[in-house]
Amino acid sequence: MKIFLIGFMGSGKTHWGKIWADKHELPFFDLDEIIEKKEHRSVLDIFEKNGEDYFRFQESVALRTMDTPDNCIIACGGGAACYADNIDWMNEHGLTVYLHASPNVLLDNIMKEKEKRPLVKHVNEAELLFFIQQKLEDRKPYYEKAKIRMRVEDLSEESFKKIV
Ligand code: S3P
Repeated sequence: MKIFLIGFMGSGKTHWGKIWADKHELPFFDLDEIIEKKEHRSVLDIFEKNGEDYFRFQESVALRTMDTPDNCIIACGGGAACYADNIDWMNEHGLTVYLHASPNVLLDNIMKEKEKRPLVKHVNEAELLFFIQQKLEDRKPYYEKAKIRMRVEDLSEESFKKIV
């Protein structure tokens, strides 16, 4: 079974995905990384030079065409579930897990790596909290389509057992 980890930036999709994959000897993939390899440049560069629409197109193509084994964990970028029917496609092709976090938890985590993230690179902390609250509301209907929802505060190495 392919496990798709979805949720907002800073919810720990890559962090937990790697830990769970290591512990259970499963291959791990990061959708952003797949796009970066294909494009030979960073997500930041793609956004800056070609814009978000271009990135979203590449993201939905990468999701549908990536060469991944039947059993694996795939961390998806924060917006991946919210465009081009991607969440429906994920639900048809694997198990979707939404890592749910409050705006304040997300703010703390995003602040640590803000420079790498094109959508928030240029905003200050107060603007960022507002941005998170707004975007989270917009994205909620998509995230909520996930088959499993987990609170990030409760996650541990053992959580993966609950998922499977
Ligand atoms: C995005 C999240 C990022 C990356 C891109 C856009 C988003 O992934 O795909 O910067 O729209 O929320 P992470 O959630 O891994 O930071």
